[in-house]
Amino acid sequence: MDNGPSEKSNHLFPPDFAWGVATSAHQVEGGNLNNQWYAWEKKGHIKSGDRVGLACDWWRNAEQDFDRAQELGINALRLSLEWSRIEPEESRWDSAALDRYRAMLKALQERHIRPFVTLHHFTNPLWFEARGGFGAPKSVNLFQRYTRQVIAALGDLCADWTTFNEPNVYAALGYFLGEFPPGKKGRFLQAALVTRNLCLAHAASYRTIHAAQANANVGWAQHFVAFRPRRRKSAVDRWLSAFVDRHFNENFAESILSGRAPFPLNKFGQHLAEVKDTCDYVGINYYSRLRAGVALNSPRTLFFQLTVPPHKPQGDSGVEIPYGEAYPKGLRRAAKRFAAFNKPIYILENGVPDRDDRIRPWLMKSAVKQMRKLLAEGVDLRGYFHWSLTDNFEWNEGWHLRFGLIELDPQTQARKPRPSAELYAQIIRESRNGFGG
Ligand code: FCB
Repeated sequence: MDNGPSEKSNHLFPPDFAWGVATSAHQVEGGNLNNQWYAWEKKGHIKSGDRVGLACDWWRNAEQDFDRAQELGINALRLSLEWSRIEPEESRWDSAALDRYRAMLKALQERHIRPFVTLHHFTNPLWFEARGGFGAPKSVNLFQRYTRQVIAALGDLCADWTTFNEPNVYAALGYFLGEFPPGKKGRFLQAALVTRNLCLAHAASYRTIHAAQANANVGWAQHFVAFRPRRRKSAVDRWLSAFVDRHFNENFAESILSGRAPFPLNKFGQHLAEVKDTCDYVGINYYSRLRAGVALNSPRTLFFQLTVPPHKPQGDSGVEIPYGEAYPKGLRRAAKRFAAFNKPIYILENGVPDRDDRIRPWLMKSAVKQMRKLLAEGVDLRGYFHWSLTDNFEWNEGWHLRFGLIELDPQTQARKPRPSAELYAQIIRESRNGFGG
């Protein structure tokens, strides 16, 4: 018999636990034509051939989805701001764009939903990209100036800020794997320099927010992949797996938490003492497990491969490559890794591409189980954000991968809840009822 989402009571979840959903501007707003992701799309880099189009039409009508979020009992919602709307040309600030964001944040507050605002979620204004993006040292000041404008305009409506979404993905996919703009491949050193500027921009932004807002809660979102060696008996696969685990999963985080310069810059005597301890929490985005193996015959993939054994639970596959093994236990591994730094933890993203909702319900129940364990172990876990409320434009996979609790037809904009939507509502209700008993 199915006893609902959890076998045990959820009383471990604190009453102010943030039960949320996460989104990002480019993926949901529609009509963002002034950033490098749209330029990338126009060049034909979306593997599914899809166009972002209206996305989820949030620029005109996010409120209809906020109503849906409220109906599910969600008390927190993570969204991002589109820098290219706020500063469409260098030093020109668009007050109408800031007003629209004010309206969105107010709409969330009216629905008793706590906004978590991300300042940078992968997209850069075209003018900024043309100046070298985060490869350019000037990027640090430019990002700080943008932060200042945002806090002045929106600071009274939000206290929870995420500076950067997945700086480790931004650097690795943009400068090493060539999957994201600017599409550079094998530029290990450049990726490290970009990471260094991201760290400095984060720290400058952190200080700017705190100078303006006494109660600010500021962090970033670290992407975590549960790696393991493809062939356990192979010493090179074991080495590779440990290497990517350290240099992908801890890249950026290590610098913010300890002041060490990103690898390999630390080996050349560089330090980043000024970024140490510039976070109030660690945000974790966790999705999957991948096996790392050396592949000497595969120069195209830089002599290594990330694979998933076919018999393992998986959501839908990407256009060219598998998305990863759905492995909920990795959530606990990620949280424990960063709990060692003694900061509160938020799971800022977790989910699975699953158009037919085959394994999402299992994944969500398993995530709750992992979180209950973490709380029982004393980990200071403050929130969980499911990615995502509705299907949205999944970067270079386009509309091919569907992460929504609610199904979306991008043509008609029709929405239809998947069974997981009601399950999430039930999980949230149970966690609240648990407090009485
Ligand atoms: C994360 C991204 C987010 C979304 C999910 C599926 O890595 O932060 O924008 O694409 O993956």
